[in-house]
Amino acid sequence: MSITNFSVGANLSQHGAPVTKVTMPALAEMKRQGKPISALTAYDYATSRLVDEAGIDLILVGDSLAMVVLGHENTLSVTVDEMLHHTRAVRRAVRRALVVADMPYGSYHGSMEEGLANAVRFVKEAGAEAVKIEGPRPELVRAVCEAEIPVVGHLGLTPQSVHRMGGFRVQARTSDAVRRLQADARALQRAGAGAIVLEGIPREVAAAISADLEIPTIGIGAGPDCDGQILVFHDLLNLTFSPPAKFVRRYADAAALFRTAVEHYREDVEHRTFPSDKESYHLPAAARETSPAGRDDEDGVVNRDALQDFEEFDRS
Ligand code: KIV
Repeated sequence: MSITNFSVGANLSQHGAPVTKVTMPALAEMKRQGKPISALTAYDYATSRLVDEAGIDLILVGDSLAMVVLGHENTLSVTVDEMLHHTRAVRRAVRRALVVADMPYGSYHGSMEEGLANAVRFVKEAGAEAVKIEGPRPELVRAVCEAEIPVVGHLGLTPQSVHRMGGFRVQARTSDAVRRLQADARALQRAGAGAIVLEGIPREVAAAISADLEIPTIGIGAGPDCDGQILVFHDLLNLTFSPPAKFVRRYADAAALFRTAVEHYREDVEHRTFPSDKESYHLPAAARETSPAGRDDEDGVVNRDALQDFEEFDRS
């Protein structure tokens, strides 16, 4: 295809309005201009669509879905196929944000070839625009970048290392560990990573790394001096059934909203107040006259709105 008839960056929103697609180079430009990058995880069509329409720059289909969507204890058990399934749903919803797929545990730990092949699957089979790889793996990052796949690195508290770390613990608390982390971040940048998630590290360390790198850092539990911030969607909205970590700010209580709505629905069903006549389809007037089932409203008037509904439903 000629690039003359393929307008990179142009895109239409779900409502048909033009939007400018966020790309990995666009994130680097945001850092240069000092514009904070907003990022959030999402795992399905409805929530990604809301997140995208709210103007979030980067959507991560995080392996945290193992915990917050699938109910596992940690992120280790989620598979490539499960991640692909969710990435496809997110991809269908998103028009503007950069869609990044998390490479799950075991998908790149065996060999470089396996890691590269799995990264390609996320782009080819699910439409991911970048992949995220945990840990200091500059060689793999270089190989994936050379395969034209943008990479987001992830350093500090890397949840896939939960057993080696002995739990989800704040990292880089000694000067040796800080030096190692700084060197790892530089190595990922040299290898071609387009951004790095910094998770669970002291604010001062994240600030120093962010100032040192040309590529953007995106923090979670790493203080306010990163180039962007990311949170887990379910943390933001109180959908995790556990007390939030220190770094989480809850912006709404979706658990309470959903629980109340579902309880009201159950009560309405139990009291037979749902569905109402207005929420029901009706026979057309002609059929009502001949059918034993055809009856007008209690007041004897044919419900015209409902007839309209019937016809619309019939056409669909
Ligand atoms: O899987 C995830 O949600 C993540 C974020 C916490 C960065 O890796």
